[in-house]
Amino acid sequence: MLMTAPRSYLMCEPAHFRVEYAINPWMDPEAPVDSELAAKQWHQLRQTLSDLGHTVHLLDPDPDLPDMVYAANGALVIDGTAYGARFRYPERAAEADAHRRWFERNGWRFAAPTATNEGEGDFAHVGGMVLAGYGFRTDPDAHQEVQEIFGRPVTSLRLVDPRFYHLDTALAVLDPAGRGRIAYYPGAFSPSSQAVLTRLFPDALIADEVDAAAFGLNLVSDSRHVVLNSDATAMAGKVADAGFIPVPVELSELRKGGGSVKCCIAELRPAAS
Ligand code: ARG
Repeated sequence: MLMTAPRSYLMCEPAHFRVEYAINPWMDPEAPVDSELAAKQWHQLRQTLSDLGHTVHLLDPDPDLPDMVYAANGALVIDGTAYGARFRYPERAAEADAHRRWFERNGWRFAAPTATNEGEGDFAHVGGMVLAGYGFRTDPDAHQEVQEIFGRPVTSLRLVDPRFYHLDTALAVLDPAGRGRIAYYPGAFSPSSQAVLTRLFPDALIADEVDAAAFGLNLVSDSRHVVLNSDATAMAGKVADAGFIPVPVELSELRKGGGSVKCCIAELRPAAS
């Protein structure tokens, strides 16, 4: 039963998911990954989105790109235009080309980046504007590029805790409409960026360190249902108290790569009709 506008998402099956290098503090190449379980959990996530009435498009996995399951990092898509990624680490660089080919083949306008950025990992669309993270992966020059491409105000936020290296591990959009509703963990941001968030979103849901460390902010919301990983039990309670319907999914294996629900799902926002 769908009570909000259906969304379109892009995902990439974890057919070749491995943790064979460490580019964030969660990744341990020595720790075993259960590939079968990773696939099962990912399919369940995909099914959950379909059951909520949303459309899921698929990007072909590449055997040489073990992090490709984290599809949110490949672009930022607003108004029918995809602003491509340019990855910080060489291990993931070729993912950008795979995303680019997908957007070009599927009729989206594609804007090539010149600055380093990791797509929706560090950009969030809310309240008609874009919140943009920097400090670990995305270069602030990319924030300017996004503002020029989309003609939307971009607010730069500095991330300071290496565990929360992408904006989408520290801040979540619960509802992008109107002035927007967000949730975030203040400790992941510099004091000045915390002050900016307080000014812009005085009614934000405030998450704590436990919520953030459980990847509770790495969620996907359709403005009514909030899909989040099942370890984030306290966060699910806060989301429910805020009037949303939490939809927990198990994603233990993909967490070993340093990502959860949101990392696996890029939102495809069409041109306004
Ligand atoms: N192993 C990946 C990396 O470190 C995980 C990416 C998680 N994605 C995300 N949107 N936060 O790049």
